[in-house]
Amino acid sequence: MKGATRIAGVSGSLRKGSYNTAALRAAANLAPEDIEIDIITLEDIPLFNEDVEAKGFPDPVVRLHETIRPVDGVLFSTPEYNYSIPGVLKNAIDWLSRPERKSSIYKKPAAIMGATPSMIGTARAQAHLRQVAYYNAMPLLASSEVLIFRAGEKFDDDGRLQDEETKKFLADMIIDFRDWIRRLRT
Ligand SMILES: Cc1cc2nc3c(=O)[nH]c(=O)nc-3n(C[C@H](O)[C@H](O)[C@H](O)COP(=O)(O)O)c2cc1C
Repeated sequence: MKGATRIAGVSGSLRKGSYNTAALRAAANLAPEDIEIDIITLEDIPLFNEDVEAKGFPDPVVRLHETIRPVDGVLFSTPEYNYSIPGVLKNAIDWLSRPERKSSIYKKPAAIMGATPSMIGTARAQAHLRQVAYYNAMPLLASSEVLIFRAGEKFDDDGRLQDEETKKFLADMIIDFRDWIRRLRT
């Protein structure tokens, strides 16, 4: 749709049945027509290595930058691994942060959510992700935190979000994100 707010939904999980990728699918389905959410997974991103970088970005990294650069905002959905973000996500952000201050994520508005079967709902991983985003000068949606705890009870076996309260949190957050991105532009 012309004039739509374009959002890249980046999942921090490679797992086929990932709750975080499923949460991004739910967000895309719940979004109104004027918000487009494209889901990005990171399976083809190589390990960051400055020697490789010096020879030029590998093709999957080029494609990732090209996908992120034109969007209005990035919605991260992160699992919590050992009280932090998964290495897969940190690794992708390390690539996305280059070249420093000229990268596709530099100053790109972002929102963060996360899903876990446990009770804490990725709060600790989200706090770490915020810190990583600060280094890249990414303005972060301050309110509307979405912490999907006990994810196993909220998604069905096909990865469809069934919990009405979580659906409302997600839908509200997406609209907050769109409105805030618009305000940042003016
Ligand atoms: C290496 C590892 C570490 C984990 N550490 C945490 C943790 O610190 N906190 C937590 O809530 N869940 C933890 N979990 C459980 C994950 O939240 C769970 O596997 C979740 O489903 C991963 O997200 P996904 O469904 O999107 O793949 C861990 C899982 C793994 C494999």
